Amino acid sequence: MDICRTKAQMRRALAPLRGGGATLGLVPTMGYLHDGHLALVRSAREACDHVAASIFVNPTQFGPTEDLASYPRDAERDLALLEAEGVAAVFLPDPAEMYHPDSETVVDTTHLSGILIGTLRPGHFRGVATVVTKLFNIVQPTHAFFGRKDFQQLAVIRTMVRDLDIPVEIVGIPTQRAPDGLALSSRNVRLSPEHRAAAPALFAALHWAETTLPRNPMTIEELQAAITTRLSGTPGAAVQSVDIRDADTLAALTGPIAAPVVILLAVRFGDVLLIDQRVVSP
Ligand code: PAJ
Repeated sequence: MDICRTKAQMRRALAPLRGGGATLGLVPTMGYLHDGHLALVRSAREACDHVAASIFVNPTQFGPTEDLASYPRDAERDLALLEAEGVAAVFLPDPAEMYHPDSETVVDTTHLSGILIGTLRPGHFRGVATVVTKLFNIVQPTHAFFGRKDFQQLAVIRTMVRDLDIPVEIVGIPTQRAPDGLALSSRNVRLSPEHRAAAPALFAALHWAETTLPRNPMTIEELQAAITTRLSGTPGAAVQSVDIRDADTLAALTGPIAAPVVILLAVRFGDVLLIDQRVVSP
């Protein structure tokens, strides 16, 4: 496995893997890998001839008061995991390699970036769209793999690829969970034992909605209120948002639920923001 700290090294490592119709899958990550990330790598291995991964804690997608400095890191362990999964090359730049000091160009989805998590984290999706565009240009993959856990991020990336005619196929992968239902996340290690014990409440609320909705027709407003009440009763949970949106467009909805909708949860435990989502049908 090639470990590349510069863009030039990455381009050199990937050159022999291109051509003859070979497919190259990219798995972008911020490291501190868990089975959610590895599920993306395994899907990429199944779908593509070669797999590249990136590990970069991208400063431009963190707000000034967010957890950039305390974001967990363990490059050595990450590299061993990626090597064991048969990854051909890993891109591991530092911020100075990634961003030119006079960098002034950004990529943004003007509407999608500002709604939902975009209101809790202004500028976040602009940072994501910009760094993912850069990674696409550096790696030039045929396919790129993202988790559905970050539902809005996936929508932002699909939209930007569509709008800018970026020649890459985006593949969305189901959320991988701990046995108690908590969605795997690099941030879970920062939960206190009490908060970790309470955190499966997100999954429980989604599961409740999924099983209840087909039996009990509800309006958007009723479902949102019921989920909010359930989550608010969870010890240590500060509910940031409960949104129920059109599963394809993320457009706001009102009234009776007649088609599949996505439930998007954002709940803070201490200073750790957890998100989860599920598409449910009436
Ligand atoms: P990161 O949080 O490291 O996640 C990397 C990828 O793993 C994302 O596509 C995310 O949706 C996916 N992922 C995380 N947890 C998952 C889980 N439990 N099940 C399935 N997939 C999961 O998302 C980012 O990094 C960054 O924003 C990035 C896209 C790399 C741009 O900086």
